[in-house]
Amino acid sequence: MRYALPFLVILAGCNGGPALPPDREAALAARSETLANNFQTELQAALKSALASGGPAAAIEVCAQTAPAIARRLSTESGAEVRRTALQPRNPDAKPDAFERETMTAWRAAPLDPAGEPMVRSAALSTDKGPAFRWMRAIPTQKMCLQCHGEAIAPDVAAAISARYPDDKAMGFREGQLRGALSIHWTGDALKG
Ligand code: HEC
Repeated sequence: MRYALPFLVILAGCNGGPALPPDREAALAARSETLANNFQTELQAALKSALASGGPAAAIEVCAQTAPAIARRLSTESGAEVRRTALQPRNPDAKPDAFERETMTAWRAAPLDPAGEPMVRSAALSTDKGPAFRWMRAIPTQKMCLQCHGEAIAPDVAAAISARYPDDKAMGFREGQLRGALSIHWTGDALKG
């Protein structure tokens, strides 16, 4: 029992923030879903037009510019941190934090729910910096993704990827596998808006 008291103090320090009211959680989950949908719609449109005009090797540069730009803009507009993450990232900035890693590890075996929709997780947390709300949605690998994330990538495309991303870990995927996730993190004043 000697060590019980300091241990409790540390726990309280990490979990001290007030909880979010349930209606706030529901509103943040709905806003997160809209942000995720906007991210995917915009990026897929940019990717499709880049693929149609220049093919996959040229589309890599578009993807490299557009994906982070969309994430930045949606983050500024919402006040949340909006990003894509992956267990095997192409962009080193997409490396997961502990929550994202735990969530994607749980989804790896089955990225879709029984209704065939990508898995979603939301969680209201109390941290030492106050309340936070996390929302994630799985991104499964589709057929069209394989030209840049699959097992048999054309040599010019593979060369363009390794020139731009020397630490790339995002090849070798098959259709249906978990490619990554959208991740939205609300903290501070953004929780109120
Ligand atoms: C033209 C090649 C290309 C195609 C096709 C493509 N991607 Fe990517 N993907 C990339 C590039 C390049 C990046 C790194 C973007 C960046 O720097 O943020 C990336 C990054 C990602 C990331 C972010 C995490 C990470 O690994 O950096 C996810 C998730 C992702 N792609 C999923 C998909 C899915 C799902 C599809 C199919 C719907 C797809 N991609 C199709 C080239 C492609």
